[in-house]
Amino acid sequence: MAFPPSFIDELVARNPIEEVVSQYVQLKRSGANLFGLCPFHGEKTASFSVSPDKGIYYCFGCHKGGGVINFQMEIEGLSYPDAVRALAKRAGMEVPEDAQYQSRYRRQERLWALHKEAARFFHAQLYAPVGAEGLAYAQRRGMTRGTLTRFGIGFAPNSWSALVDAMRAKGYTDQELRDGGLVSEKNGRIFDRFRNRLMFPIIDVRGNVIGFGGRVMDDSTPKYLNSPETDIFNKRKNLFGLNLAKRSKLGYLILVEGYMDAIALHQHGFDCAVASLGTSLTQEHAALLSRYTEQVVLIYDGDDAGQNATRRAIPMLEAAGIGVKVLRMRDAKDPDEFLRKFGADRFKVLLEEASNRVEYQLGSIMRKYDLENDEQRVKFVREAAEMISTLNSPVQREVYGGRAAEAARISMDAMKLEIKKAFQRRMARERKKREQQELAPAQALQPKSRAIRYDNIKSAMAEETVIAMVLKEPGLLEQTKGLQCSEFSSPLLGRIYEELQLRYRRGLEVAAGVLEDLSEEEMSHLAGIVQRHQEPVKEAVLEDCIRIIQAEHRAGQVSSEEDLMALREKFKEQKGMKS
Ligand code: UTP
Ligand code: MN
Repeated sequence: MAFPPSFIDELVARNPIEEVVSQYVQLKRSGANLFGLCPFHGEKTASFSVSPDKGIYYCFGCHKGGGVINFQMEIEGLSYPDAVRALAKRAGMEVPEDAQYQSRYRRQERLWALHKEAARFFHAQLYAPVGAEGLAYAQRRGMTRGTLTRFGIGFAPNSWSALVDAMRAKGYTDQELRDGGLVSEKNGRIFDRFRNRLMFPIIDVRGNVIGFGGRVMDDSTPKYLNSPETDIFNKRKNLFGLNLAKRSKLGYLILVEGYMDAIALHQHGFDCAVASLGTSLTQEHAALLSRYTEQVVLIYDGDDAGQNATRRAIPMLEAAGIGVKVLRMRDAKDPDEFLRKFGADRFKVLLEEASNRVEYQLGSIMRKYDLENDEQRVKFVREAAEMISTLNSPVQREVYGGRAAEAARISMDAMKLEIKKAFQRRMARERKKREQQELAPAQALQPKSRAIRYDNIKSAMAEETVIAMVLKEPGLLEQTKGLQCSEFSSPLLGRIYEELQLRYRRGLEVAAGVLEDLSEEEMSHLAGIVQRHQEPVKEAVLEDCIRIIQAEHRAGQVSSEEDLMALREKFKEQKGMKS
């Protein structure tokens, strides 16, 4: 996927990072940088920075960063070549032919096309004689014709080769069927993965069919068989039904556990329902949701697993800047069952009653204790105060403090005191944590990622400064000629330095955003370095840094030589003792 470096240079130049980012994030200028809300982790205060003159973005919150190509990759979930292709299109540039890249892109397109064909095939089977049982089952589950069409529900016949045959006839290769996870294999022969199941196509936000969930029609297991992870299907990044829900006019999204729950909700007019794909909610899911809504209603099953999932999902959604309401299922195990038993109107009442997360949490704490027992009451007060003390609004503290006091049958004053104590305990804990951090400055300077750990902090700081300065003024690479990349203590920084030298000597663009051989993590690290080192370029500082790096390098060599000598001596001694 190597594009000619000069092409990449021009591509980056013709796609100013602030323009590309502005398509997704509202930016405000502050000095040389622009700031906005980070699109990757969701937040309420702007810690996402864009530096037009350096051509990079960097988030001080989640530490993601890079050049314009990295941004395009991250925000649209594209591979490197696809991001390049998208930017080229934006700038009206022709992409130079690249066999490998072309083939990879074509492979993905083929997988999408294959899945669309497969979905059509399954859907058609539902109305064919072989699908009679599937259709009957769908109807038994209350799905209307309209729903079957809207969700593209289908049926996989009870056959080892129905899909394989149909797709081969359409010109798809066995390898493509394997790559799409639509077949299983035994003794070198492939056969249909999904057999005798009601089929739910999984569709991404852009409308591509990327996988399937297939349900058995009896009590056998597994109840649902899902597509494996493939080049186009990642369940951590996709939500079932979002392709439809994103167009809902209801103004919020409902998050449920099951395919059937999402489908039943849509059928009953709640066209804003999405389901996680049998996994617990991920940060990627939260970020994805935050692109479409500011309010999520969480409905997980009433069992312990569901309650645990709820507890984990709340902070994740809130961290993404989403307001969370929690609906506790009552009198039914899940929304699908509830809707069938009681209908949409009763469900609407539940929705209106859905409590905010504070009520929900207070409720969960209350249920944990037996409030008739004095000892348990004391414990309840303490835990409730702990939770209430985290609320920023005094009104909220008053309201929920009052409820807790009432439940524990203590006075409001006593409750207030408990909350105050809990608050002070937390502050003390946080202060201690801060102090510990300040006492360990070297620790604070360590990169977030363990893969990029610095062995020699002193040298690494000098190395960072050199890189930041030459990126600001590439002409300085002339002056640093005496500094060898092998003298760097950090392999990553050495590699970056070497690449910059090489580009400089070849007359190519010297900028963070054009470096190709860095992983996403390494690129973020580099962007972080550039944003952190805002000191003005001074040649004296640069020379100091070079001196430090070279001195540390020599010291390192000497000490390892010394170590070697010492070891040899020790070895001799031991041998002497033995003989
Ligand atoms: P549920 O068992 O709650 O499914 O699992 P459901 O949607 O209510 O199904 P019905 O009503 O029994 O038909 C919730 C979700 O967990 C995943 C599926 O995404 C399912 O919708 N799951 C469950 C699996 O992937 N595999 C399984 O075997 C079971
Ligand atoms: Mn169900």
